[in-house]
Amino acid sequence: MNTLTVEELDDRVVVTLRRPEARNAINAAMVAELHDVCAALEEQPRLLLITGADGTFAAGADIGELRERGREQALRGINSRLFDRIARLPLPTVAAVDGYALGGGAELAYACDVRLATPAAVFGNPEPGLGILAAAGACWRLRELVGASVAKQVLLAGRRLDADDALRFGLVAEIVPAGEVLKRAHGLLDRMARSGVLALRLTKLVTDGGGHPLTDDLAQAILFESEDKRVRMDAFLAGGRS
Ligand code: COA
Repeated sequence: MNTLTVEELDDRVVVTLRRPEARNAINAAMVAELHDVCAALEEQPRLLLITGADGTFAAGADIGELRERGREQALRGINSRLFDRIARLPLPTVAAVDGYALGGGAELAYACDVRLATPAAVFGNPEPGLGILAAAGACWRLRELVGASVAKQVLLAGRRLDADDALRFGLVAEIVPAGEVLKRAHGLLDRMARSGVLALRLTKLVTDGGGHPLTDDLAQAILFESEDKRVRMDAFLAGGRS
């Protein structure tokens, strides 16, 4: 890996975006390497923590590369397909955002299930200022996360959301000092890891699918037959608490 540091643990993978010379801007090499991470997580489902090196999450897609792209590349959805793949990973994902998460960097964070911010976090989608639109999820994912009014301020009026804004609008779960944000993210993942893996996976599927009584019942039917459910409920009834 040239653009990422990847730490593989039993129950999770920790990815650090690392192109400090370009504020961790997402270039083709990083896209390819993040696809490799996704492939590994699809093969062996684990939790995912994404963060950025050196006090920046990611300052967007790489503008030098974007400048050279034309219609064919746009239609290929280079970033949008990657972020969709990340959003569809089997188990939950957490973004720990320190510093700038702009453009594609913000969209990567929006694609994660939970976001934590440091006091220096800044979210924004300045794409129209570059003559393009935020086409890798911001136009609909941000609206889902914060509502149309705030999303339009970000997308149309270039509003940047600082950490307090992001917390107030529900974009991030918490603001944590930079020195503690990874620890806090691991704590969150530890909490998730204590849940049943299949239960977590199906809950994510059903939630992201928009929920429906039929899918809820079918997913529950699978879980009701699982050994994990029996073990966990027996433990509860025997006085153990998870
Ligand atoms: N793509 C390519 N290179 C980028 C980049 C991007 N999205 N963002 C930053 N860089 C590069 C800069 O060109 C600069 O390179 P240089 O040292 O060779 O000149 C280096 O990273 C440092 O950036 P700089 O602007 O000097 O840092 P800063 O701390 O003053 O400002 C930002 C940080 C994030 C505010 C600023 O870099 C910025 O506005 N980046 C672009 C954000 C953007 O429009 N993103 C949407 C892209 S779709």
